[in-house]
Order: sequence, then structure tokens, then C-alpha cells
Amino acid sequence: MKKEVCLITGGAGFIGSHLARKLLSENRTVICVDNFTLGKKENIEDCLDNEDFKFIEADVSDVDVFSKLLENEGVQRIYHLAANSDIQKSAKEPGKDFKNTFSTTYSVLEGMRRNNIHKLFFASTSAVYGDKTGINVSETQGSLAPISYYGGAKLASEAFISSYSYMNELEVLIFRFPNVIGPGLTHGVIFDFIRKLKKNPTELEILGDGTQCKPYLYVIDLVDAIYDFSIKERKGVEVFNVGVEDATTVKEIADLVCERMGLSDVQYKYTGGNVGWKGDVPSFQYDLSKIHETGWKPAHTSNNSVRDTLKNVNIEVL
Ligand SMILES: NC(=O)c1ccc[n+]([C@@H]2O[C@H](COP(=O)([O-])OP(=O)(O)OC[C@H]3O[C@@H](n4cnc5c(N)ncnc54)[C@H](O)[C@@H]3O)[C@@H](O)[C@H]2O)c1
Repeated sequence: MKKEVCLITGGAGFIGSHLARKLLSENRTVICVDNFTLGKKENIEDCLDNEDFKFIEADVSDVDVFSKLLENEGVQRIYHLAANSDIQKSAKEPGKDFKNTFSTTYSVLEGMRRNNIHKLFFASTSAVYGDKTGINVSETQGSLAPISYYGGAKLASEAFISSYSYMNELEVLIFRFPNVIGPGLTHGVIFDFIRKLKKNPTELEILGDGTQCKPYLYVIDLVDAIYDFSIKERKGVEVFNVGVEDATTVKEIADLVCERMGLSDVQYKYTGGNVGWKGDVPSFQYDLSKIHETGWKPAHTSNNSVRDTLKNVNIEVL
């Protein structure tokens, strides 16, 4: 039987490269497209010798280039993960999110329309909800009000996906991820703490008051769910919150990082306030009833995701 041809945008990134390995293990032909704005060749190095794997270096936000590329590859399903994942950086440069988060989505949708491709997975985010501290947000939560340019570009992407789906009969699965961590992670609070502690093992500056609290999902749990849910037939667009039931505070992350680095006498210095940086949602928690009703549960809790991520970090090379 001929293998299904899947294309991953952002396939050289952290989550995209794990997804590529998962799809190859499930007997798919996998094409990764990435322009290395944030992704790295080493993330996909182990796939390059696989005859079912192909890498194409291209800017997904260029609609004509991306549509042309699809013409030649026989793609049946797209996993759209390309985006600007560095939210803190784009706070100073909103154009990064317009180009890499929103325009890549427009390109993907237009490429699908021009090439008669109907199956799409979209990597969305809790950032579309904005600051909903104290509410367990469900997929039907109203008044979505992103507070970062990134969240705005993802919500705009979801809106375009809805219209393209209706106009062109696209079957779309949207997962709104929380913070995703695990082997291959390259940035975020865990890395900031390790880098700071390598410079000064006696003192750690913590942005905010340390009470910021978020769920952390392990990347392997996520890509398994992406695969299992994406291969099911569906009509139109379906949205799921995907996450863990517990959450981890920034102070708990600091404690786990210190434990991993064997440091017991670190003075924490808080910058104050309950927000790490402008555009960051300090605390959130999902209502996960929709995904739980399907029987899905992740293997890792939030704290275990942090612990297992730390186990895999090579502190020396950071
Ligand atoms: N990691 C998380 O905590 C998290 C949380 C919520 C949502 N997401 C979403 O999941 C997806 C993957 O995130 P990640 O953590 O693997 O980030 P990542 O930065 O490692 O991966 C994104 C990839 O997209 C590529 N890319 C960006 N702009 C591009 C363009 N114009 N053309 C081609 N490639 C381009 C980057 O080079 C990178 O390899 C993203 O859409 C992100 O918004 C991630």
C-alpha cells in the first residue's frame, strides 16, 4: 500500500522534529519544510538517512513558493507548526509574528486551496485566550483577548482556518498547546535559570514573584496525541485544549533546576509583581473535559515533565 505523504511546516523545530520521528515510525512519508529561523538541522539529523524522509529549506510565509512546492510532492496532509515561538523576542518586533506566525498560516491555507489538499493539523496555543487568571478555560470560552502579538497571530490564524475550511471543505484539527517541554527544548524559563546559575551559582534572579503558574506538557505525550487524533476523520474544524491537570510555579521550576544542578544554597531574588514580562500570561489552567471524554490522558504530570526535561539537559553545553 502506498504510504500517506505528510508535510510538516516547522519540521526542524523542537516539536516538529519529534512529530517527524513519530510519523516515520507510523509508516508515513514525511516532508519537513523549515527555513531555520529558530529550527536546527541537528534536530532532524537522525531522519536524513530515512528514505521516507525529505527536508526542504524554504520560507513558508512566501505563498507562491510554498504553493509551488506542494505541486510537486503529492502531499495529502499538512501539519502546520511553523511559527515564531520566541514570544518574548517578538514583543519588541511584532512583524515577526505577522510573518512567521500568521502569514505562514495564510500560505498553508492558500497552498492547500490551490493544490486541492484537505487535511490539516494546526498547532495553536493557550495564548489565544489571553489573561484568564482564575478561570479554567474551555474551548468554548468567549471573549478571546490575546495579550501577546504571538497570541494575536495564532487567533487570527484560527479565524482564517475557519473560513478556509468552510469555503474549501478542509478537515482541520486544532490543538491549543500549553507550555511544551522535553528533549530538544532550546529556550524558556528552564534554560534561563540554568544559564543564570552557571554564571552565578549562589544567586538566581526570578522575573516576577515566582508564583506564576502554568501547566507543562511533555513533548512525547503531545506528539503521540497529535498523531492519534489527526488520523481520525472529521468534518470542518475541531478544537481541543490539550494539557495536563496540574501546573508548576516558577518557584518550583527554580527549585527543580537547583536540585538538578546540585545547588542547595541559592538565594532567590525576585524582580516583583506577578508578571514575568509584558505579554506573558502569569497563570492559566485549562478545562480539559473535552479531550478527557475521548479517553486521552498524558503519561506525565506537569512536575514530571519538568523533571524529565531536566534529566535530558546537557548542562555543560548550555
Ligand atoms: N513549545 C511550546 O511551548 C508551544 C506552546 C504552544 C504552541 N506552540 C506551537 O507549536 C509549534 C512548534 O513550536 P516549537 O516549540 O517546536 O518551536 P520551534 O521554534 O522549535 O519550531 C518552529 C519552527 O518553525 C520554523 N519557522 C518559523 N518561521 C518559518 C518560516 N517563515 N518558514 C519556515 N519555517 C519557519 C522555525 O525555524 C522552527 O524550526 C509552533 O507553532 C508554536 O507556536 C509551541
